[in-house]
Order: sequence, then C-alpha cells, then structure tokens
Amino acid sequence: MSRIVSLSSPDGLTVTLRLPAADGSIAMPEVISFGPSEASDAPIIERASRINGMDEAVASAVLLPTGGMGFFGWPAICGHRSGRDFVLGFCNWTAEESEGRLALAATDTVARMSLRLTLSAHKGGVVSSQVCLTNDGDAPYQLDRCMAGSFPTLAEDATVESFTGMWGREFQTRREKLGTGIWLQENRRGRTSHDRFPMLFVESANQRFGVALGFSGNHQIVIDRCDDGRRLVHMGELFEPGEMLLDPGESYLSPLAYAGADSAAFHSFVRQELITWPGDVMTPRPVTLNTWEGNYFDHKVASLKDQASKAAELGIERFVLDDGWFARRDDDTTSLGDWDIDTTKYPDGLAPLVDHVTSLGMEFGLWFEPEMVNPTSRLFETHPEWVLQVEGRPLRLSRHQLVLDLTRSEVADYLFAKIDSLLSSHDISCIKWDMNRDLTHVGGRDGKAATARQMRALYGLMDRIRRAHPKVEIESCASGGGRVDYGVLKYTHRVWTSDCTDALERLEIQHGASKFFPPELLGAHVSASPNHQTGRQLSLSFRSLVAMAYHFGVELNPLNMTLPEQDELAQFIALHKRLRKLLHAPGTQFRLDPVDGRYVWGAASAERIAVIVAQGSQMVGEQPAPLRLPTHITQFGGRWRIADRTPQQPDFIRISEGQSDLLAGKIDFSLVSLTSAGLPLPMLRPESALLIELEPTTGDPDHG
Ligand code: GLA
Repeated sequence: MSRIVSLSSPDGLTVTLRLPAADGSIAMPEVISFGPSEASDAPIIERASRINGMDEAVASAVLLPTGGMGFFGWPAICGHRSGRDFVLGFCNWTAEESEGRLALAATDTVARMSLRLTLSAHKGGVVSSQVCLTNDGDAPYQLDRCMAGSFPTLAEDATVESFTGMWGREFQTRREKLGTGIWLQENRRGRTSHDRFPMLFVESANQRFGVALGFSGNHQIVIDRCDDGRRLVHMGELFEPGEMLLDPGESYLSPLAYAGADSAAFHSFVRQELITWPGDVMTPRPVTLNTWEGNYFDHKVASLKDQASKAAELGIERFVLDDGWFARRDDDTTSLGDWDIDTTKYPDGLAPLVDHVTSLGMEFGLWFEPEMVNPTSRLFETHPEWVLQVEGRPLRLSRHQLVLDLTRSEVADYLFAKIDSLLSSHDISCIKWDMNRDLTHVGGRDGKAATARQMRALYGLMDRIRRAHPKVEIESCASGGGRVDYGVLKYTHRVWTSDCTDALERLEIQHGASKFFPPELLGAHVSASPNHQTGRQLSLSFRSLVAMAYHFGVELNPLNMTLPEQDELAQFIALHKRLRKLLHAPGTQFRLDPVDGRYVWGAASAERIAVIVAQGSQMVGEQPAPLRLPTHITQFGGRWRIADRTPQQPDFIRISEGQSDLLAGKIDFSLVSLTSAGLPLPMLRPESALLIELEPTTGDPDHG
C-alpha cells in the first residue's frame, strides 16, 4: 500500500507525496501536489499519465528520479562501483514525520546504497530538501551526481526567470520560455559566480515559485519536462570528474535546496532563520565608509584618520579598512597570504587607526581575502605546496593570485591563527571577506579534484572564526557579488552586491538581488562622480537615493568633497538613519517591476510609506503611468498625503498644477486609490530619483 505524506510550511508551501509501497517495488516519492498551502492540485483520481511504454506504470513527477525506476527523463542521482551498480533504484521507503520535518528513507539492496531525503519547513513559508546518500557496499562508490532536491511545476507553458551577469553587472534578470528540452545551468567557477546565480523563479499561468540552492560552489540546476507536461526543477552540487568517491560506510550530504512562493517568503526566511546575528538580533545597519575607492592601496595613516573624523562628522557609523594594509601590498600583484600589518604604512601597527575610529564612536572593519595567495609573498615562498594545483600542469593565475588548499588542516590553522590574532588584539567589529578569482585546477594533495571539499573547508573556517569571535560580523564579497547565496549567508551578515557603484547600473543589479535578499543585507555605497567603473557623472542626490533603502554606505574620500557636497551627503545619511527602521523592517517592503526605465521600491507601515522612484534611461512614453503601489499596503487604511519629498526640487521634465499640489501634500487620497488609480507623478529626468514620504492625514475626510 502506498502512503500519502505531506509537509507544510505555515503560510507557505505544502508538498504532498505518495510514498511507494513498502513491498520492495522500486520507485521514488511521487509528487501529488506542491504549492501554496491553501491551494492544491491534488488529483481527483490517481494520475492517468503513467504511461512510458513500459509494462509497469512509472510516475512522472517524482522527487529525485533515478534511471533504475524505468524513468527516461533526467536522473537526479547517478553513479557506479567501478562500472557496476550503475542502475540505482530505491525501495523499502519509510517516513518519519515530526514538527516541520519529513524524513524519508529508502535503500537500494542491489547497488547497496541508502538514501535519506529530508524535507523541512522553514520560517517565512519556505521548504527545503536535503539528501544524504550512503555507500552500504564493501567497495568505493563513485557518485557522479546527487541533486539536493526536485520541485515540480504545473503542466502549463512556463517561463524561467534567472539571473546572469558578469563582474560589475550582477543579477541581470533573464526570462526564457521553457520548451520541451532541458533547461540547464551549470556553474563551474568554484564560487557562486557573477553569471549563474543558484536561484530562479518559475512562472506559469497558475503558479509562481522560486528555488535557491544554499551553496557557494559548483552547482547544477536542471528543469526537465515530464511526459505529462509537468516539469521537475532539480538543483544540487556539480561534481568534478571522480571527485565524489564514497568509501564503504561513507555518506555524501548535499547542500539544502529551498523553495518559496515569492520574494517576501525568501526575505522572511533569511531574516528569521538563515542569518544569525551577534546577540541574536540585527542592530540598525551602520552607515559604512569603505576605504577602497577613496584610497585603493595608497594608505596614509594621517589621511585615513582625517577621513574617519570627517566620516564621523557626516554621520557615518562604521569604517572599513579595505585592501592594502598588510605586508607589501602596494598593488594587486603581491602579499596575499602574508596577513601581517605593513609596518611601512603603519609604523605603529593598526592600533592607532583602530583606536582613532572607535574613539569617534564608529565601528572598525577590516578586509581579508583568506583563501588566496600571491606567488610573490612570503607564504608562497615558504609553502608553494599549499596551493590547489594539479601536478604537471602550470599554475593558472587570476588577478595574480592562486588559491590556497583549505582542506589541508595546516592551511586552515594558519589562516585562522592570522585572522584570530588580529581580531583578538584590536577592537574589530566586522570583516570584509573577499574572494577575487574563480577556481581552476582545483587539485588537492592527493591529486584529485577538491572543489567540493574546498567549499566545505571554507564554511568550516568561517564557522570557526564566528565561534571564536561571536560579536564580529562578516561581509561576503567576491569581486563584488560573486558569492551571494544562501550557503554563505549562514556565516555572514552582509554581501557586497557589486563592485560597480554606478547608481544607474545599480538599479538593475539591486532590483535582481532584492528578489532573494532583503535590502538590509545588500551593501550599496555612494561613490565619487565621475564613477570609477563607468566614468558616468551622476548627481549626489541620484547616487544617494539609489543606495538609500539598502545597507547604506559611502565609498569615496570624504576629504575630496566640497563643503556643500559634504553637507548634502550628511543630509542623505541623516535621512537614511531616520528611515532605515522602516526600510529594513520585515514584511513592509515592496518593489515594482521596472517600466520604461522607471524603478520603484520602498516600504510601508501604519505611520509612514516611503517610496523611491528612480528614472534610469530617458522614458519613451510621453508621460509615466500613474504610480500604483501593491495592494498589500491597503491593510493600513485611512487617507494619506505626501508629507515630504527628497530632493525638494526634483528633476521633473514638466509638472502640472495638480501634480504640484499633490507633491506639496495638499491633496489626500485613500490607500485603495493609491493601489488602483495610482499617483499621477510627473516624469523625472533620466538619471534622477525622488523619495516621497506619505503619512496618514489626521483630519478632514472630505478634503481632496
Ligand atoms: C575586490 C572587491 C573590492 C575591493 C577589492 C580590493 O575587487 O570587490 O570591493 O575590496 O577587491 O582588492
């Protein structure tokens, strides 16, 4: 007898499965329904589409299909034992149901493998899947592939929304219609990558959900069409040839594959469960000054102290000393790995600067790139064997650097000792943990591929540092947003969204990243104009408003600003501090899809609604469509008006008298009209932005 089991995430997704009968028949759990808890596509009778030409019926949409079931689609698990045991088929299924968890187990008595599949309900309505596969045989088992989870779509025409890009242009949203063939994304860069993020949405007429793999290494996402028109979205780790060899008794544990109904669910999960804050609660995100673009490698203590003093005057709360403070790091060709303070630049060590910063009431942060070494370094001279390499192959450099083999305990111990000693001897509140190259030739000491082990060793090192310094926050950076995912976020608190600080480029980058990450985790900095990456000149107002809703920061030398510029920046910092509680509060944010170059995002509460409208490129339309906010804000009710706007003189192309009155707060409106008729705002000039603050009116209901 087959058995129906299910897992529900409160207010989120429900997975209902038919567990194969425990009579020795080979099958995987069939998905009966998957979707929002209140809806169900559970079949009225058993599905009729169990036809595949075989005499025995085989279900179409199952979790983790294997070829051994008589399944002709893409197998989610495969491997062999020296060429034998290449057919995998699991039977004898058992299920343990407990609060928020469904643990399914099965064995393959012929290939002598056992499988445990754990489905878990998470806060925010997200569900996850994780696989543990064990070699029960007496000879090693070569695991070629083992997905972490499979999530089914409805049998409808569907679109996939994924994120691509490159250095400086991360999170570019790409929409593709799914066809009959397989949709495949493989990341082989050894880090999350700038071009293949392990997360996407699938959308069809009656369904939309997102999936995300909690992993920062190589991955595979496959969308495979079943014979009944449904599709299976598989995600998991991508192994190098021969890399996952399980000795007898050994297990492979996959990363977690997550599914959620929408961005709000993912944000809520990240906030409530994934991130662990020092002291267990997030403190208001400190406005940050990062020294990189303002100084690069040219560190002068006197100037850095003056910059810190100026930063404090402007209202900045955290000072992050970026690359260039150690060994002989005068450019990017040397010294990674030698984590000792450069005594030429810092004759009295870092303490005078750290003390100066903290005496101003600011936090001090320090940059590291622990996984890397330059061939020109003392570390490499002493330990050339510590780098990932393949004997007989040339060492391949990227940004003049090589990657340390973290799976060697002496390497991990060395890095821990270096970081630990700096954190222990200085009042350091956060680390910017950088990682500036893709991995190639990832050979370990045994000459075999070590990509999977390297990633686990990295998490181990981060974890060790977190445990030793529980008050320290970590920012994940990899040449900007090259390591932004739910794996690394377990150990970190902020991500550097992109090395491109050009506000115009940031519109699309931040829009894409916001689909999976709440704004307070995404670093967004006001940098100099002309911009260092693009040469574009943009107003301080546009630069500030585009960064306003995120983890706001500044990345320029404040001493190079004119007094009026300093004044203006201080006002934007004060505005951010006034609004950050609202902008970073759970459950209140919204974000509209860009139309005609206009991006809109913000947050709402019963007391205040903040809306940022940014016009990127020049509009094609004669006038913008009225600004209609999402309907969930109508929960607050009452009549509202525009209470404030920034800047006071926005760059409008033309403005009518009515629009002037509206902006001046002379007209009030209901939230229902705000979400249906919308605000008829005037057209902004390209590359300009406006923040409007709405508040409930206290009086005259007949007014307006
Ligand atoms: C990377 C980071 C930058 C900066 C430099 C320092 O490119 O993304 O923010 O830290 O390294 O070398």
